[in-house]
Amino acid sequence: MARGELMKKLLASYGKDEEFRAVAEQIIGEEEKKNNRVLARSLRRSLDAAPSRPTKPKALAPLIPFPEAAADFIELVEPTHNKQDIILSSENIRIFLDLLREFRRADDVRRRGLPVRSKLLFCGPPGCGKTLCAEIFAAELGMPLYIVKLDRLISSYLGETATNVRKLFEFARKQPTVLFFDEFDALARAREDGGEHNELRRVVNSLLIFIDRIEPKGFLVAATNLDQSLDPAIWRRFDEVIWFDPPETRMIARFLAMKFKNVALAFDPQAHIGELSGYSYAELDRICVQAIKASVIDKRKQVREQDFLHAIADERRRRRRADRMTA
Ligand SMILES: Nc1ncnc2c1ncn2[C@@H]1O[C@H](COP(=O)(O)OP(=O)(O)OP(=O)(O)O)[C@@H](O)[C@H]1O
Ligand SMILES: [Mg+2]
Repeated sequence: MARGELMKKLLASYGKDEEFRAVAEQIIGEEEKKNNRVLARSLRRSLDAAPSRPTKPKALAPLIPFPEAAADFIELVEPTHNKQDIILSSENIRIFLDLLREFRRADDVRRRGLPVRSKLLFCGPPGCGKTLCAEIFAAELGMPLYIVKLDRLISSYLGETATNVRKLFEFARKQPTVLFFDEFDALARAREDGGEHNELRRVVNSLLIFIDRIEPKGFLVAATNLDQSLDPAIWRRFDEVIWFDPPETRMIARFLAMKFKNVALAFDPQAHIGELSGYSYAELDRICVQAIKASVIDKRKQVREQDFLHAIADERRRRRRADRMTA
């Protein structure tokens, strides 16, 4: 970026610590590119010595423009859910609260020479809250959520230089974001499929090296449907592995209470918990939404038991067909 533009950005960021530092980093980067090493070093020293203002924990982090070349394989997700919208096991609640506390004390932890956990692996079957939780976690941190489509990233990387990917990781190093790698197993698969395909192997291995080396400013989260079958070489790269299990009875009860909280009901959905076991949260969600919709379409004030039973039957039919297709 032209020097004048950077100066304008620097002045505009007055009083906004994170943004100021991000622009200052860009200026230092420009000087490094121009080989002005002495100036770059002295600017960095001044920046490191400048006291940080405490940031408001929930303030939305300012954005460095995202590398445009990465737009093919990355998506910015605006959070639309909050922590009232998710059912988590008490173990997972504790893990996330600890991670938030640790992140907010990151400077103190690092000052003592201790590492801060910032790379997380979410494991669990489809529809059990991995993506939803990443979104809510980002919202709690006041950070934007970027979802990286790994298969597209791998193909954009193939036959290309590593520039796009390098820019992506550079961005995550400087900008406090939650960078979410969905379907992380694609990486493990590509690694196996690579076989003799040297190019693919090279791409996957260098991606893993990027992940190894990066110390994200925010969090790097990867999600996978697999658990045991995931290559240990991939597991060990994460500071924390978190399981999202399908709901058991108690969680189904909590989910129904949450979904029907502000809905007028002519029946007690909790009486049907037995019929709902084995469904994922996403399937339970569809059942509840269909039942509520039936009452809206019929212009009724209350959801009837029949609406709920129909919705369960529809989901069961859908599940049977899906099972047959994957058998
Ligand atoms: N733990 C949960 N609590 C409340 N709702 C949930 C939960 N998990 C999933 N849902 C509902 O199901 C939808 C889909 O969930 P989500 O996308 O998080 O699943 P996922 O684990 O990422 O699945 P996939 O492996 O297919 O990507 C959510 O938008 C939400 O409506
Ligand atoms: Mg998902």
